[in-house]
Amino acid sequence: MNQSITIRKPDDWHLHLRDGAMLEGVLPHTSRHFHRAIIMPNLVPPVVTTAQATAYRERILAAKPKADFFDPLMSLYLTEETDPADVTAGFRSGLVTAVKLYPAGATTNSASGVKDVEKVIPVLEAMAEAGMVLCVHGEVTDPAVDIFDREAVFIDRVLAPLRERVPSLKIVMEHVTTKQGVDYVRSQEQNLAATLTTHHLIINRNAILAGGIKPHYYCLPVAKREEHRLALREAACSGDSRFFLGTDSAPHTDPNKECACGCAGIFTAPNTMSLLAHVFEQENALDRLEAFASLNGPAFYGLEPNSDTITLAKQAEPVSFPAKIHTGDGDVTVFDPMFPVHWAVQ
Ligand code: NCD
Ligand code: ZN
Repeated sequence: MNQSITIRKPDDWHLHLRDGAMLEGVLPHTSRHFHRAIIMPNLVPPVVTTAQATAYRERILAAKPKADFFDPLMSLYLTEETDPADVTAGFRSGLVTAVKLYPAGATTNSASGVKDVEKVIPVLEAMAEAGMVLCVHGEVTDPAVDIFDREAVFIDRVLAPLRERVPSLKIVMEHVTTKQGVDYVRSQEQNLAATLTTHHLIINRNAILAGGIKPHYYCLPVAKREEHRLALREAACSGDSRFFLGTDSAPHTDPNKECACGCAGIFTAPNTMSLLAHVFEQENALDRLEAFASLNGPAFYGLEPNSDTITLAKQAEPVSFPAKIHTGDGDVTVFDPMFPVHWAVQ
């Protein structure tokens, strides 16, 4: 039983790399397996302008292991002050690939996000005109809305009206975690896609809360009930071109996770491809892994798929991943799927 599968090199359409020592520590775990990634702009302070994105891109390339080919696709953090001309000039020059909308306060480092979507309509119209993608963190921040309902409510209150307002804007609903999210994407004919994370295909909310509180399974959007996890797996493995991989690998040091007010974020860069092979095999969909990880994303962004490949092989012994990686900022715990994994990237 020497099973193996070769696919075009994957891309990660939602990735947190941070900066400085953390960037140096985590980047090799992505550049080893991925050719491109959309780099999230939620640094402190955030990456708001094309000039800031260009400087950040240089720092990423300087931190990259020399032997790896890796192309960071930069995103800009949308604020109510964002200049439409800067965004489209950045896109046309190839320095910027996408813009990220964080509702103010929705997640880690999102304080300068958007409070009133009306204020950013001119930017969104300019992006639509240029053919640029808007990546959306789809959760409302209304304290009256239960945290497990924030994605579903966002669709009704924010996303659907926004799509009506600027129908020609290409939108990625990021890290979809609910059946409502999947159904909404499926209901739309064009200009809407969704990314799915690896961990949301594997855990439901019990992982965080049952048998003791487990901060390393806490991320935003928070994992939901089992019925939602099953809907996400079905979407990922369906081959539907509107669904593709965005790991949302989001490193935080252990002291920042294991404390009275722990940060949201799960670090999956080292084992994502092995875990996806496991999930897709379980779903009898190994032949669709390439669409999900390597083809659907570039198609939505209007880019060519990668021409290089990676091979995943199933081995008799479980693959051993490190429990933690060591960075100059401190240790970062690697996502533990709580089952043995036999697929290794060659
Ligand atoms: C992300 C982070 O740590 O930057 N955290 C997370 O739980 N996913 C922010 C985000 O993408 O929401
Ligand atoms: Zn994220």
